[in-house]
Amino acid sequence: MSKQHPSTEIELCDASLDADGLVQVTWADGTDARFDTRWLRDNCPCSTCRVAQTEERRFFSGSLTSALTPKEIAVRAGTAEAGCIRVDWGDHRSEFTGSFLAAYRTLPPPRYEPRYWDATDVDDFPVAECDAVMNDDGALLRWLVDFRAWGVGRLVGVPAESEYVVRIIERFGHLRRLAFDRIHDVRVDPAGYNVAHTAEPLPPHADFPGYRWPPSLQLLHMLENPAGGGPWIAVDGWRLANELRAADPDGFRLLTEVWAPWRMFSADEETYARGPLVWLDDRGAVAGVRFSNQVMQPIELPAEELDAYYDAYTQYARAVVDPRNQAIIPNTSGDLLMTHAHRTFHGRQAFDPEAGPRWLQDGYAEFDDLDARITVLQRKLETP
Ligand SMILES: [Fe+2]
Ligand SMILES: [Zn+2]
Repeated sequence: MSKQHPSTEIELCDASLDADGLVQVTWADGTDARFDTRWLRDNCPCSTCRVAQTEERRFFSGSLTSALTPKEIAVRAGTAEAGCIRVDWGDHRSEFTGSFLAAYRTLPPPRYEPRYWDATDVDDFPVAECDAVMNDDGALLRWLVDFRAWGVGRLVGVPAESEYVVRIIERFGHLRRLAFDRIHDVRVDPAGYNVAHTAEPLPPHADFPGYRWPPSLQLLHMLENPAGGGPWIAVDGWRLANELRAADPDGFRLLTEVWAPWRMFSADEETYARGPLVWLDDRGAVAGVRFSNQVMQPIELPAEELDAYYDAYTQYARAVVDPRNQAIIPNTSGDLLMTHAHRTFHGRQAFDPEAGPRWLQDGYAEFDDLDARITVLQRKLETP
């Protein structure tokens, strides 16, 4: 069960209805804000309007079909929680604490600040010992927080145990099963369904763009690679999208608006979806990118619109393969690379298939679960 609202109280000193019919609230520190009356009624925290055990809403928001005018608004001082406002609606009474209202003065701050990077930052990538992350919640939390900011992270000392990647995922989330395999075994395989199963270089890409919601976390566990060939490549796709946005705003907009088709398939499997290369959040910030030169299908735009699209697309694609943007991550047996797969593209350099065995397992999961695990761990470890 969660407490949605901050526990430190921020005291209110005044509340009244203004000329626009909005509730004007002033806090003891002199700041103020206005609240819509229907919004207030909708968010009444009382035990009639909400299920106390779960904090879920029992009150039916759909009953608020027209504007409300409170009968009376008063600051109620001297309660256990310092000043809160009491609103009398005629048929119901609501009380709101200063800290509850303060949390909704503006959009909430972003959950984290991305730390953008290029090829030169590879030595600063978050890295942890697998054993610490598996056995110590504090070490796990530190690694996850750093990973969330960077969109990339490494583990070393991972046991060469088949499907160990699932145990790592279960420390902070849930395995996401996708087409082809539960866990993707990557070895040189003459019957493989994609270029990963050859010794060829693998240009940076995101996996499974042929899903409408591609997997947002990818873990690459190198079980065997004693020769150390074929280092990983990682590219910060968000940084490149932001650079394109600055250099060519119209081209950037095209990449957010045009849906491209993506497909990967075998004799027994099929994945197909259409989606934009770049999508944005409600602040207009880049929230996701999707890129795979290998499996992007023919763009379906009218011929006269393709020039502009290719101008934008090729700028982005060339940035992805520019060595200045490619972090090269040496790998050997026991190394693991995790990517925020809606942000960071992965690839690998070519290797010599005769140099020794090379066995990789890929597991997928969702960033939302990792993000939520950070909240839960912080609640457990950082709350006094
Ligand atoms: Fe891949
Ligand atoms: Zn209520």
